Amino acid sequence: MGFQEAIIRSYDGLADRGRVEDLERRCEVGPSERVFLFTDTMGDPICRIRSSPMHKMLVAELDNQLVGVIQGSIKVVTVHHNKPPPNDQAKVGYILGLRVSPLYRRKGIGSNLVSKLEEWFIDNDADYAYMATEKDNLASVRLFMTKFGYIRFRTPAILVNPVRYRPRHVSSNVEIAKLKVEEAEYLYRKCMENTEFFPHDIEKVLGNKLSLGTWVAYPRGELRDFGVNGHLPESWAMLSVWNSGELFNLRLGNAPLSCLMYAKSWKWMARVFPCFKLLPSMPDFFIPFGFYFMYGLHHEGPLSGKLVRALCQFVHNMAATTSENCKVIVTEVGGCDPVRHHIPHWKLLSCFEDLWCIKALKSEDRRTNSVHEFTRTHPTKSLFVDPRECSYGRRSPFTQNLLSHDELNFFGPFAA
Ligand SMILES: CC(C)(COP(=O)(O)OP(=O)(O)OC[C@H]1O[C@@H](n2cnc3c(N)ncnc32)[C@H](O)[C@@H]1OP(=O)(O)O)[C@@H](O)C(=O)NCCC(=O)NCCS
Repeated sequence: MGFQEAIIRSYDGLADRGRVEDLERRCEVGPSERVFLFTDTMGDPICRIRSSPMHKMLVAELDNQLVGVIQGSIKVVTVHHNKPPPNDQAKVGYILGLRVSPLYRRKGIGSNLVSKLEEWFIDNDADYAYMATEKDNLASVRLFMTKFGYIRFRTPAILVNPVRYRPRHVSSNVEIAKLKVEEAEYLYRKCMENTEFFPHDIEKVLGNKLSLGTWVAYPRGELRDFGVNGHLPESWAMLSVWNSGELFNLRLGNAPLSCLMYAKSWKWMARVFPCFKLLPSMPDFFIPFGFYFMYGLHHEGPLSGKLVRALCQFVHNMAATTSENCKVIVTEVGGCDPVRHHIPHWKLLSCFEDLWCIKALKSEDRRTNSVHEFTRTHPTKSLFVDPRECSYGRRSPFTQNLLSHDELNFFGPFAA
């Protein structure tokens, strides 16, 4: 008997909200024995793409059941940094949140969802489609690369650092100042406009209510003026912070019992013996938590590595003192970008090779194989990871390196 085709249609907030959340849960509670991060979208399944200039969510329906979902957004970014403007820009469609109900997999539903989303990208004049996944997510890699012809073009690192009770030391030789949104926009356009995937609506990102601000660090006592026609110090660094916890919360699921016991007993010890709070420890990931995402990292000058580190410590202290539920600070940088050596992170919580794949959508770009330009870019080049597209918390096996049984045996409070 032939299999009935699923109907693919646009997401309808009123009718589909509960059913999409239910599908997400079913995808998590599947047969996998792996640890995963459960995302609570707090009643708004479309929250991850809502801040993007153009966005779309599609659902697949079969036998009156919602069996699949996909999300996409479109924006203009810098791609060909070696070409003069406006030829350095392209309209790109980003694919995320593809899920098919476990009982309905391998029936072409995931492929149908991708095809329909690509059609929406093409109808809206997008030049390229791209997506991010874990390199060992075989189903996803085969679907996009083998079936749809996406090619691997970047492998950024997702660096994760837990927020601890104890404030981090910020060097007294470093001065940190918050910029106004207009100053931040000016500096980003001046210094990062050529960076790959720099979003051309940067002012919207910086002005979004989730963006907590942009900070610069420079050696104390140096003359500085970060405004238009201002004087930049010889060494300086900047970054912006996005409060993802306002959008969705995460929670660790499917973790081994030993891991749960470890986190709970550590929390209990810290309550009974306050000195425990001073030791580096594993945050309790079993209750819903949020995170800060640091984006737009830029640094110049011989002392800039130290300044990046000072900014990261500053953001940590801000999270520790002002946020109730921020348990980790996350950032995503180009895989070989040397700046990653200055960003404090726990190896155990981080993912060093997220896989970004891209495909040309326009026939002339396909003919000239324009995507291969991406693969020729030097791997140490920096990459602008838009906070609206942060990959952390994607339901994924990337948590495989988080608290696997073997590692837990070695894992102690000083594993940072
Ligand atoms: C990835 C996912 C969406 C695929 O959905 P699906 O409806 O099963 O996909 P399709 O039936 O259209 O499969 C298309 C192709 O993908 C590949 N593929 C899909 N599942 C696969 C698997 N388990 N193992 C190997 N290849 C697989 C195959 O090449 C398949 O073509 P084929 O069936 O002709 O061999 C689904 O497995 C899923 O929801 N996984 C969990 C969430 C996830 O990882 N999402 C991707 C995030 S980017």
